[in-house]
Amino acid sequence: MIRHTLSFRFIAELGDTDREAVLAELATFPERYPTMRGWSLGENLSTRDTTFSHTMSMDFDGLPELREYLGSDWHESFVRTRWRPVIAQQAITSYEYLQRGASNVSTRPRGPYGMEYARIEVPDLQATIDFLQYHVGLQLEEHTDDYAYLRADIEHHSIELISAPEREDGWTTAIGFSVESEQVLQLLRKQVSEAGLEVLDLQGRQQGLCDNGFGVKDPNGLIVELFTEFQEYAEAPHLELRPVDLVHPFIATTKYAETVAFYTEVLNFIPSDYVVGSTTFMRCEDRYHHSLAVQNNKEHYVAHLCFAMKSLDHVMRMRARALYKGAPIASDIVNHSASTSIAFYLHDRKFGPRFELCDRHRVFTPEEHETHRARRMPADPRNIDVWRPAADDWGRF
Ligand SMILES: [Fe+2]
Repeated sequence: MIRHTLSFRFIAELGDTDREAVLAELATFPERYPTMRGWSLGENLSTRDTTFSHTMSMDFDGLPELREYLGSDWHESFVRTRWRPVIAQQAITSYEYLQRGASNVSTRPRGPYGMEYARIEVPDLQATIDFLQYHVGLQLEEHTDDYAYLRADIEHHSIELISAPEREDGWTTAIGFSVESEQVLQLLRKQVSEAGLEVLDLQGRQQGLCDNGFGVKDPNGLIVELFTEFQEYAEAPHLELRPVDLVHPFIATTKYAETVAFYTEVLNFIPSDYVVGSTTFMRCEDRYHHSLAVQNNKEHYVAHLCFAMKSLDHVMRMRARALYKGAPIASDIVNHSASTSIAFYLHDRKFGPRFELCDRHRVFTPEEHETHRARRMPADPRNIDVWRPAADDWGRF
């Protein structure tokens, strides 16, 4: 972290009104410069040294951000036309420091916080609702002829269904990720613009369910929505058998390298592990081992959505429901090596992607989150499911 301070004294002949006007302009700096943190301005209270009447202080993540601020056209023009004519004396210091009590505080740019929802167009809205209620354990919250919201926990929804009778199979059109602060949102929006990508408005209904946000299409045309302050219910659903979180989408793509670069370089997802040539697992600030996975494939589709259940017992109870009703289990109980989770997958094409119900998806500690080095694992089924007995056991995928 870089702290930048400016101590100053106005010229004696400056009137109170002009003085207040300049101080008010200094107070607009944090709005003009989103990379500026912890801005403050105050009068000098010292009786030992009254050389300066005020000090202004601010922090930046690093020297590039400080230089960007100092070198900006607006800053230079402000100094030339507004500042120098009214200042008698000033002193500037910039120094690097570690935040107290956090010797390894990261200054890396932040990514999204975590996955909140997927939007799926489905040919039969009511049948999909029934499936998600019984087999995934979601609670229906809002339902019209055109759309439905279902939730897992307190977050407003984890699945938004859109009625699309013209479709034969369900199709995921958008994935939504929350972002911790307006500052991070602005950083991501800036990176999207700088990458030459179109910044889209959030879907109309979603605009009313958060503070601020935007959308962007990934290289496959899948819409990624990013937003702050997603609405939450005061209580989780009063259902015993339900997921506690939507953890990740798994995206199959024909543009593997481009898609991985988009999520890691433009949207600041962090690689957690690679199955070389096949899959990249990426995490967000909520520290799940992966909040997104991208797989090299011959076609693009959202292959699955993963929900975390409360326990392995709950995973097995949902599996029992699937067996009882004859719901198609696309991949039976597996032990994922990368995320150390135990899961099974349901799949009926009419309802969209596979639904993975898992337990004990790995969550990194704050320290691991900053220091974990992504492993490069060979494309061997045992590196996907440790319960495979041999390197050629691909049969159950
Ligand atoms: Fe998964």
